[in-house]
Amino acid sequence: MTTKERVHPAVVGRTVSIVGIGSYLPERILTNADLEKMVNTTDEWIITRTGIKERHIAAPDQASSDLGAEAARRALADAGISPEAVDMIVLGTITPDMGFPNTACFVQAKIGAKNAFCFDIEAACSGFLYGLEIGRQFISTGSMETVLVIAAEKISSILDWEDRNTCVLFGDAAGAVVLQARGAAHGVMASTLGSDGTLAELLMLPGGGSRSPTTEETVRNRLHYMKMAGREVFKHAVTNMTRAAKDALQRSGLGIEDIRWIIPHQANLRIIEAIGERLGVTKEKLVINLERCGNTSAATIVVALDELAREGKLQKHDKILMVAFGGGFTWGASVVEWDK
Ligand code: ACO
Repeated sequence: MTTKERVHPAVVGRTVSIVGIGSYLPERILTNADLEKMVNTTDEWIITRTGIKERHIAAPDQASSDLGAEAARRALADAGISPEAVDMIVLGTITPDMGFPNTACFVQAKIGAKNAFCFDIEAACSGFLYGLEIGRQFISTGSMETVLVIAAEKISSILDWEDRNTCVLFGDAAGAVVLQARGAAHGVMASTLGSDGTLAELLMLPGGGSRSPTTEETVRNRLHYMKMAGREVFKHAVTNMTRAAKDALQRSGLGIEDIRWIIPHQANLRIIEAIGERLGVTKEKLVINLERCGNTSAATIVVALDELAREGKLQKHDKILMVAFGGGFTWGASVVEWDK
């Protein structure tokens, strides 16, 4: 562990459980064959280098809050909880509806969670795990009873559709969980979060902020699109996710053999396989949906978890290890006992 990394102590207050989960994938599917007509790429290159076959793309009139609101409605319905009962909404995104107000407020208005206070977190692909830990803290201390953690991304809105290095990798999606304290349940057992701002330039969206406000020149220079040094990011993703997964596991007091499912951030099949190898787990434990969804940034893990639940693959007391890495750099891992 580096000094940059902060390991959160194992649960000390109330334990916090996922009591509802939902996700939403936009209707439109963009295949690798479609991309072949847009940039100089091939289905074969994309599959071999990333494992991605297709991704969902939001409609022009859908913003991240629309995707997030739909996922939130589904999570609340799953939990059997009314929107008025939500005390707090924390939403992870790098594609907010606009500079401000925050996207969580837009979701609040859409779903009618009028008693909640709402804010966004911007931790790129680690947004869901950051949100999960933030939500857990508020409930654990007794400050809040019901927290909605949402990850909602319309990554298609920040992609340079002329840049084959990035546009083939991403998709749009949203997922949400409802958190509550549930007596003796274990719930979120341990989390590790970390960041390294010295490597920010390897993955960023440089234009449109206070550093480089929008001008004709910034638009002409395509600064409002995501830039990524893929090969460098790849190496840091493998190293940091492996380390974070091991740290969270250690904090939880479990061994890797106790984990039923590992849900890694869905960026690249080769990254997922490298992590699986380093953790010494069989492929059968790794949850992978990126062939259908691509990289949906903060949303990947919660969407995969929801799909696992809907497919009936989660048994009560299954231990799940989730691990993420993204722009910042940011990373995190959480061990959760499924107690729904
Ligand atoms: N089609 C065809 N060729 C391509 C494409 C494409 N879509 N994209 C790049 N290439 C070319 C490159 O130009 C390069 O050509 P060159 O050798 O002539 O220069 C060649 O393919 C190899 O490029 P590499 O970058 O070395 O390819 P690599 O095997 O590293 O795969 C990839 C690239 C898929 C981007 C990989 O590095 C990766 O997955 N990186 C990590 C992404 C990630 O984890 N992101 C996490 C967070 S995302 C977030 O936070 C928002």
